Amino acid sequence: MFSLTPVLVAVVCILIAWIFKNADGNMERRKGETRARTKAQPWVDEDLKDSSDLHPVEEDADDWQDSEESVEHIPFSHTRYPEKEMVKRSQEFYELLNKRRSVRFISNEQVPMEVIDNVIKAAGTAPSGAHTEPWTFVVVKDLDVKHKIREIIEEEEEINYLKRMGRQWVTDLKKLRTNWIKEYLDTAPVLILIFKQVHGFAANGKRKVHYYNEISVSISCGILLAALQVCVLPTLPRRQTQYSMAKQ
Ligand SMILES: Cc1cc2nc3c(=O)[nH]c(=O)nc-3n(C[C@H](O)[C@H](O)[C@H](O)COP(=O)(O)O)c2cc1C
Repeated sequence: MFSLTPVLVAVVCILIAWIFKNADGNMERRKGETRARTKAQPWVDEDLKDSSDLHPVEEDADDWQDSEESVEHIPFSHTRYPEKEMVKRSQEFYELLNKRRSVRFISNEQVPMEVIDNVIKAAGTAPSGAHTEPWTFVVVKDLDVKHKIREIIEEEEEINYLKRMGRQWVTDLKKLRTNWIKEYLDTAPVLILIFKQVHGFAANGKRKVHYYNEISVSISCGILLAALQVCVLPTLPRRQTQYSMAKQ
């Protein structure tokens, strides 16, 4: 008997989930001839749906296009470490990441721009659906712009706490002693805004679907947090929905 490593088990589970999802999709397709084609979006997971997915990219026969970009081949280079070294490295990486904390009191000490560039480059190495790389990173250092962002976020966050989140969510947050006041958005030397691109544009100007954009950007954010932790820079992740930004 062979035993599956945890990593392999995870991969197998994902494959199984994918196969079932497709099997379901095929049955649905057979049943529902009448269903509009634009509704078939297997890459939008139910539990990852948000307001951006309410406007599916319209598809019709004329929109089909061949993959036009010829992608440069980057050879895979690989160092195989002895088992002991792998254990040591994984343990050290875990210990480093285990020191990460969401920090809500941040010093205004400046950070070299090269560091910010490097961590964003690291985040940009993330895998993405069909290699669409559906992210935009925006670095904000200007005091006035940071303050404007703080105003937008606080205005929305107050509505979140008072109306949108509901009693249970607000109660669950009590232990963190958070509220809608975010001084750190003024004091932090750098804000990194990460936008997900729900679609892109091909060279011919046609819309290009960004499959699994939400989950791809989330993975990229995870890598960004890890890269910042490698530099022992404090971070605070937060998610901002599009309604507040759309106002601007
Ligand atoms: C998607 C996401 C959204 C978050 N939003 C907020 C937020 O709006 N305000 C905040 O103070 N912390 C926010 N956090 C931080 C969490 O509260 C924090 O990660 C959690 O309490 C665990 O603490 P730790 O990060 O120190 O391990 C968010 C974290 C994630 C992943």
